[in-house]
Amino acid sequence: MPTQPDHLSITRPDDWHLHLRDGVALAAVLSDTARQFSRAIVMPNLVPPVTNVALAGAYRERILAALPKGMHFEPLMTLYLTETTSPADIADAKASGFIHAVKYYPAGATTHSDAGVRDLARCKATLAAMATHDLPLLMHGEVTDPSIDIFDREHTFIETRLKPTLQEFPELRVVLEHITTRHAVEFVERSSERIAATITAHHLLLNRNHLFTGGIRPHHYCLPVLKREIHRQALLDAATGGNPKFFLGTDSAPHARHAKESACGCAGIYTAHAAMELYAEAFDSVGRLDRLEAFASHHGADFYRLPRNTDQLVLQRRAQRVPQELPFGDDHIVPLRAGEDIAFTLAS
Ligand code: NCD
Ligand code: ZN
Ligand code: ZN
Repeated sequence: MPTQPDHLSITRPDDWHLHLRDGVALAAVLSDTARQFSRAIVMPNLVPPVTNVALAGAYRERILAALPKGMHFEPLMTLYLTETTSPADIADAKASGFIHAVKYYPAGATTHSDAGVRDLARCKATLAAMATHDLPLLMHGEVTDPSIDIFDREHTFIETRLKPTLQEFPELRVVLEHITTRHAVEFVERSSERIAATITAHHLLLNRNHLFTGGIRPHHYCLPVLKREIHRQALLDAATGGNPKFFLGTDSAPHARHAKESACGCAGIYTAHAAMELYAEAFDSVGRLDRLEAFASHHGADFYRLPRNTDQLVLQRRAQRVPQELPFGDDHIVPLRAGEDIAFTLAS
């Protein structure tokens, strides 16, 4: 019988994949994350992208300056890999002490990826430097070839890009970000200890039917796009299975309402307003709340070779109603579950 505790106290979690944006957007979303998470891997897909230590250091300062008084939060910065990122940039990043990884976006794969990599072969010396300096490579794992079915792009990426890269750089540590398929789960499980994966709350809770419930649902559109139910089940098994290769990464990706509700809507789902509550619902759905702490608070820190947090976060089994929209500068964000309930609430 699944247990039904009325509250859950866990080591404070970290978010290993987060979009904080910049300026008024950053100011609007930061406290949602800092309320729950001690640290987050901050994605570098700004415009222009965060491609060197100076830009990452300045962005880190803007994040810390936007933090409401009394809140503690450590942004773990990343560099945006381009075809001109040099081995010296990698050495500088490692020496900075505040850059924890390098992010690979296939050019054109997702939001603000135009400056990304067209041909990984041009990055060989840089990838070798990452292996030498033990700076993990975080991958948006989708091919961009428009002739490949959008639901197959992650699988094809694993076969044609990831496997050869791992073979060529046996020391490189890689996080396959926001995995969405059974293929990705199985690939990560079979790979060596240096390969891990993040899993979002939305991919644990939604399948591709949710894109079309009663009409087209732009607020359920993200990349990699939601997949079939069998894939959601595989992700849930992976997240709740206790394997240290899988850890929490919300991929919370705020876009203004008008940019989502558009003839060509942006990819990204906002979950930071209630990330831990959403993950708790997913874990509870299979009676595995007992596995949430390891997934959210232990596995990621261990992979990144950072100390685990020491304070606690408490979740209560008490429903909360999510607002229809949240302020976002001059516009609004429509958060996941807008106008509906989530079964858990963060204790204050
Ligand atoms: C992300 C964003 O909006 O920055 N969007 C998304 O759908 N996941 C980019 C990304 O992580 O691919
Ligand atoms: Zn991505
Ligand atoms: Zn992302």
